Amino acid sequence: MEKIMVVNGSPRAPKSNSKRYAALFSKYSKNGTSYFNISKTNHLALCGEMEAFSHLLFVFPLYADGIPVTLLHFLKTLEQNPPKNKPTVSVLINCGFLESRQNDVAVDMMRLFCKENGYPFGSVLKIGSGEAILDTPFRVLVARKIRKLAKGIEKKEYQVLKVSMPLSRKMFLRASTVYWTNYGKKNNVTKEQMETMQIEGPGEDEKKTKPF
Ligand SMILES: Cc1cc2nc3c(=O)[nH]c(=O)nc-3n(C[C@H](O)[C@H](O)[C@H](O)COP(=O)(O)O)c2cc1C
Repeated sequence: MEKIMVVNGSPRAPKSNSKRYAALFSKYSKNGTSYFNISKTNHLALCGEMEAFSHLLFVFPLYADGIPVTLLHFLKTLEQNPPKNKPTVSVLINCGFLESRQNDVAVDMMRLFCKENGYPFGSVLKIGSGEAILDTPFRVLVARKIRKLAKGIEKKEYQVLKVSMPLSRKMFLRASTVYWTNYGKKNNVTKEQMETMQIEGPGEDEKKTKPF
């Protein structure tokens, strides 16, 4: 059985949810997997590695309704340095919002890349509430879908799967607000600060005039 190359496209790959999803996939894949992160310096090495695989699974988060820049940069390198034998590409994407359909545009971006560059397209798993679901009892739902994804790839029966927490939007919003407010508290950031556009501390110039 042919091993699957699993590539994590999260900008925070070593500490990412994508890493946890990839680990679940590896657990359920009978093919066996080889796991790689994308770093700033390993693009060409990954393109070289790809030669040995007939199936490639990209695992990554949704960032600003699209694919993260880490993955985008890697795809640009891959476009210029393709393997001789192109693997079939599957996608496991997770997003923070409740609805798995939030991932649709990013999946289309991957489909387009594959179409334009001659990679056969395989399966898709779209995960909604992906930041939270693994630490809730609904983890079993996502584990079940990842097992289904692995089985389909093993049999070359490609499919589009989706999963999310079975909560109303109102309940999800309430639960996530409590979660992020407590998370902020732990890091000495108030809810009001989180509601501003300032996502990091002020730059050096600003610090001189306006203490944070
Ligand atoms: C800069 C940034 C942009 C994001 N944009 C979106 C988005 O547009 N829609 C969404 O549902 N989640 C969004 N998220 C949430 C991530 O998709 C979510 O936290 C995911 O679990 C992160 O996965 P990772 O740990 O594998 O990177 C965003 C997160 C960050 C940090």
